[in-house]
Amino acid sequence: MQIAVIAGDGIGKDVTAEALKVLTAVSERFGRRLHFERLPWGADHYLESKVTIPLDGYDLLRAFEAIFIGALGDPRVPDNRHARDILLGTRFELDLYVNYRPVRLLDERLCPLKGRGPADVNFVVFRENTEGLYVGVGGRFKAGTDDEIAIQEELNTYKGVHRIVRHAFEFAKARGLTKVCMADKSNAMTDGHALWQRVFRQLATEYPGITATHYYIDALAMYMVLDPGQFEVIVTNNLFGDIITDLGATFQGGLGMAASGNLHPGKTSMFEPVHGSAPKFAGKNVANPIGAIASAALMLETLGLAEEAAAIDAAILKAVRERQVTQDVGGQLGTREAGDYIAAAVRAI
Ligand code: NAD
Ligand code: IPM
Ligand code: MN
Repeated sequence: MQIAVIAGDGIGKDVTAEALKVLTAVSERFGRRLHFERLPWGADHYLESKVTIPLDGYDLLRAFEAIFIGALGDPRVPDNRHARDILLGTRFELDLYVNYRPVRLLDERLCPLKGRGPADVNFVVFRENTEGLYVGVGGRFKAGTDDEIAIQEELNTYKGVHRIVRHAFEFAKARGLTKVCMADKSNAMTDGHALWQRVFRQLATEYPGITATHYYIDALAMYMVLDPGQFEVIVTNNLFGDIITDLGATFQGGLGMAASGNLHPGKTSMFEPVHGSAPKFAGKNVANPIGAIASAALMLETLGLAEEAAAIDAAILKAVRERQVTQDVGGQLGTREAGDYIAAAVRAI
């Protein structure tokens, strides 16, 4: 299988090295051929070449079976132009409309919520990934003056909302789950989010075995903290999904633990940890590689390699239980040593 790898910036490089280490271990253990094609795109490449992503970059990516990405973001590129083209551009151009972000607590010790354990924190968030406030529709007039006008439009299409809400219901049905919660802000955003309301109600009628609930996004944030156990599947828009999955990451032990997949079912998809490039930790052998390694497991699962994915997940669980992890999750290992431990655990399965 051909996998494109964009390690990117900052700790993206550190954690990607560990994800590849574990993928190599799993492919050797299970006799699979995974070929990694490293693409140099990121802040360094942009600053040297003035190219964020080559003209044929998206076509190049489409030719792979999957894409693995570390993180993008560098203080030397303050407008984040390269991340917009590489990360958001790939989401848009490859039409990766499902941002799949599981929120699963592996060990009670890691959860900052009082009295909560793995049974209370086990849900998935489906974040719409191709529309909303991210589309870059808008502009600035009289920029830099006291008369500046800045407009950033939120795009919601029937097709876009329908397919992500459909995906959430279908996921629940396929996994035997019975609860889907949609979150919007239709009390204030009475046009764009009325569309979410209409589509959600309409689709809910097709799934009589599933209880469809709705919260406004502000209330949802509160209920996530107060009673996360009530959630199985949450579906929401691009920006709200971004925000609540950082919150969800804290339930799992922090940003270093959370995994994600940017999916277009049946087509080339992209996998990455939820966290960013954390520049202050870059190259210091401190970043937690588990979010990246768990994203690699999601990639294998999506590629149909369920046994291999399960082996990685089991190795991560072992590392967490035995505290063979980085400092942010209560261990004493460096990034590389934490990756070594998980890779060895995979080989031993
Ligand atoms: P961040 O996720 O990079 O880091 C926030 C904090 O979370 C860090 O300071 C650290 O304390 C903790 N953290 C994150 N990842 C960790 C890990 N693997 N191990 C241990 N601790 C970890 O968010 P930020 O500081 O807001 O953003 C930094 C840069 O990353 C920005 O340029 C931002 O745009 C970019 N970013 C990129 C992505 C992506 O590529 N998908 C995601 C989020 C942010
Ligand atoms: C994420 C990140 C990105 C987003 C940034 C880097 C543009 O925060 O993948 O969660 O907002 O989608
Ligand atoms: Mn984010």
